[in-house]
Amino acid sequence: MGSVIIGSGKSLPKRTVTNDELGAIVDTSDEWIVPRTGIHTRQIALEETCTDLGAEAALRALGQVEGGWQRDEGALDPASLDLIICPTLTADTHFPSEAARIRERIGAVNAVCYDMSCACSGCVYGISTADLIMAGSAFDRAQAEAAGRAPRRNVVRRVLVVAAERLSRLVDWEDRATCILFGDGAGAVVLEWREDEEGVLSSYMENTDDTARTLWCDSAFCARETPFAANNEGAEERGNLDPHMRMAGQAVFKFATAAMMRCTEEALARAGLTIDDVTLFTPHQANERIIRYAAKKMDLPMERFQVIIDHVGNVSGASALIALNEALCEGKLKRGDIACMTAFGGGLTAGSCVLKI
Ligand code: ACO
Repeated sequence: MGSVIIGSGKSLPKRTVTNDELGAIVDTSDEWIVPRTGIHTRQIALEETCTDLGAEAALRALGQVEGGWQRDEGALDPASLDLIICPTLTADTHFPSEAARIRERIGAVNAVCYDMSCACSGCVYGISTADLIMAGSAFDRAQAEAAGRAPRRNVVRRVLVVAAERLSRLVDWEDRATCILFGDGAGAVVLEWREDEEGVLSSYMENTDDTARTLWCDSAFCARETPFAANNEGAEERGNLDPHMRMAGQAVFKFATAAMMRCTEEALARAGLTIDDVTLFTPHQANERIIRYAAKKMDLPMERFQVIIDHVGNVSGASALIALNEALCEGKLKRGDIACMTAFGGGLTAGSCVLKI
């Protein structure tokens, strides 16, 4: 038994931004960006909201809109979803949650829904959490059936994980160190609990304190003033108004390369598999150099890694879900194949899951 991926979708905004266009805004160039990041273009949302992107990716994953990947024949009914998890850093509103907005848009009338804030690890945290909840629900149902009573917890058999990001809203477009890296977009999977099949073979999640300030975004939100200023101790230290994402590039590189290896090894060990058993790695795409580093360490050719950063940039938690979607749509992953999804990001979060297609 296990959580099987039965649908996958993506959505990218219409506007393509080239490296040359960035060179007209900040002091950078295509010659600098490509060898250091692997990024040629990224898609930036000018008209599309996070909800637009998330809903389109979700409808493709459900087979309601063309362009997605389905494991079985036929579209899936949005009303059959029990849960929607939306990893995002850029929800359109503080509340309702982005997941709730997507629920309304796609008509997932029976789904409970919430957002997750775990930066670029959202894909792995989303899938891992969906799998844990469905396994818990299956256990609860089995106990209820044995005792001849109703389940005591929500019945969760089908989950939509949809990561949607408009990182262009967090980017400081005057900071050449970060503005070259990020793009907007959404990726989604539908997972279903099956009694007779395996899907998520293992998962691993970890957090490390970011004491050295590796990756951060101090939202202006916490700096709102209250009328109780005299008693507002600590307001100054909380009151950083910088709304842009920041990073210590080289520290991120060190953290990311170590996390990529550690998490991949741990998830594969938990699944009782080795690197050789993996058909395709679909990692988070922070920087192509990080993927190249991992490939070298694992002594694998780059063909074993799905690389999408060249045309989408870094889309945080959506990146690896888009990579998985493109691999499925291109036929690089077929039924029975093994995919390994590893991610790392602000928090500091990191993790990996091994997926049987
Ligand atoms: N164009 C031209 N020059 C630049 C640019 C740019 N876009 N950005 C930085 N530089 C300059 C710097 O100002 C610096 O100049 P100086 O030597 O005159 O001071 C020089 O290039 C070197 O700067 P570094 O920051 O040391 O550049 P580095 O070689 O480390 O490359 C990069 C920067 C690509 C960001 C690298 O650190 C990296 O890959 N880090 C990983 C970070 C990452 O991938 N983050 C993604 C988001 S986080 C996530 O998804 C988990």
